Amino acid sequence: MTIMEAIDARHSVRAYKDMPIPQEVRDQLDAFVSACNEESGLSTTVRYDDPDGFDSRLAHYGSFSNVKNYIILKGSKRADFDFECGYFGEKIVLYAQQLGLNTCWTALTFNKKKVKELVPGGEKLCMVIALGYGETQGTPHKSKSLYDVIDVKGGMPEWFVAGVESALKAPTAVNQQKFCFMLENDEPSVKVRGIGTFTKVDLGIAAYHFEAAAGKKVNAR
Ligand SMILES: Cc1cc2nc3c(=O)[nH]c(=O)nc-3n(C[C@H](O)[C@H](O)[C@H](O)COP(=O)(O)O)c2cc1C
Repeated sequence: MTIMEAIDARHSVRAYKDMPIPQEVRDQLDAFVSACNEESGLSTTVRYDDPDGFDSRLAHYGSFSNVKNYIILKGSKRADFDFECGYFGEKIVLYAQQLGLNTCWTALTFNKKKVKELVPGGEKLCMVIALGYGETQGTPHKSKSLYDVIDVKGGMPEWFVAGVESALKAPTAVNQQKFCFMLENDEPSVKVRGIGTFTKVDLGIAAYHFEAAAGKKVNAR
């Protein structure tokens, strides 16, 4: 599965099969997460075979079931912490999809008290991502249109359109899609547009999707 196929196949999945992740898949995922940590300076980890992280009323209310594995996005505090967690978290999500796994970004509906016990002092918890073999593959979300999320004067090159279309397939908190892509002198950039929660995490996620399709770095403001 290519990264573009993974972007098309990925949808949030909240109900999981009672099927452990095989050791060779864990090894590949852990190696990928380590490489992401080296690049980003974050200290993200994957927690396997631990139902406690999603054992809470909120998780059931949020229709999560049988979540036994999850990614803990964490690291030391820094100015771009939320953006970087979004960017590298989604890089890991799409790799997990390529390994045949399903995921769901989770800012609220998990057991924060239990997960916080796994975060060493001095590190900050961003959020978690549920992980496993889904009961289903999920469904595509309702999406804004390209023109809702751009501010461009004049024409747009194909790579820019491909990048924005890919960003529209990205997960965002409550499907808010509060980002805006711009293009000046062939230089793409992206910023948060409007008010919402976790918009900086969403921005990092959208930036990763854009870059994967456009093949160009996007400047985040
Ligand atoms: C930063 C972030 C936080 C999220 N938090 C939650 C959450 O607490 N509970 C939940 O059920 N879904 C959560 N989601 C999943 C979104 O609802 C989902 O990504 C969005 O509806 C789009 O659907 P899709 O991921 O299937 O494309 C979150 C997504 C993101 C990106």
